[in-house]
Amino acid sequence: MPNGSTIMEERLERGEIVPFEPCPFALPSGDDLAFLLQQQLKNSSKNISFNPATRSVGGYVEQTPNQAARLNGLMADFSERTIAWLAALLPNYAHAWQPDRASFRPAEEATRCLRLTARNDLLHFDAFPSRPTRGQRILRLYVNVNPTDVRVWATSDTFARVLEEYGACVGLPGQHTRTWVGRLGQGILGLLQPTVIERTEYDEFMLRLHHFLKTNAKFQESASRRLWHFKPGSAWLLFADAITHAELRGQYALEHSFFIANRTLALPDEAPCALLERRCGELRLPNAA
Ligand SMILES: [Fe+2]
Repeated sequence: MPNGSTIMEERLERGEIVPFEPCPFALPSGDDLAFLLQQQLKNSSKNISFNPATRSVGGYVEQTPNQAARLNGLMADFSERTIAWLAALLPNYAHAWQPDRASFRPAEEATRCLRLTARNDLLHFDAFPSRPTRGQRILRLYVNVNPTDVRVWATSDTFARVLEEYGACVGLPGQHTRTWVGRLGQGILGLLQPTVIERTEYDEFMLRLHHFLKTNAKFQESASRRLWHFKPGSAWLLFADAITHAELRGQYALEHSFFIANRTLALPDEAPCALLERRCGELRLPNAA
């Protein structure tokens, strides 16, 4: 008999969103929440971001002398609470996972102005250009910290279904030639930022797929959609590489990402990199996946 956490893992890995209402761990409240909601995004930043490895926050407009330390403390608390709760909920993942960034999202999703491929309100799978997962999966926890308003999402097809229908159009690994511009871009990035991890064939495919879906009007208009209304104070968990999703409306959310090693999955044969390998042959992936 599978235990509770295995059932949860299978649901997530198959592309379900799992809601938690209310969020099962303590969130910023009172003065701390008011302080958080006052934070403003720097012009060039998509979100206010916290790196648990360096315990540093970026992407916000500096307004007062004590702001940095207080914001850092709040984001560190959120990150630690999320990690502790998820480690108890999903212990199989936790022994080999890599906690990625946490973020605070102060912008209203329905009205923000972003370039097409950066927009959150278009259906997509996640792929991080500057932090390739090299075959690991992207688990994300979101929390609606808006005191009064819901956050609205849409979800649609799973990775398996999109791969079957659009994989060849996107350019499957082994059948896609990287342009000289792409090779040059990675080369320059490597010179400027030697610590940046190089993308694998898998990462390149996931990025192409991300851009393809956001710029494909037929998919955006015709894909069937399920709408989700996440209440104030609620949380939800998903593999953002398993189900196409769009953030349609809502202001003020906290989020934390985790890279999950494939060897710890309940259903490793259904992971995107396994599905891709069955479709187009073995991918060159590091052992870490
Ligand atoms: Fe996303």
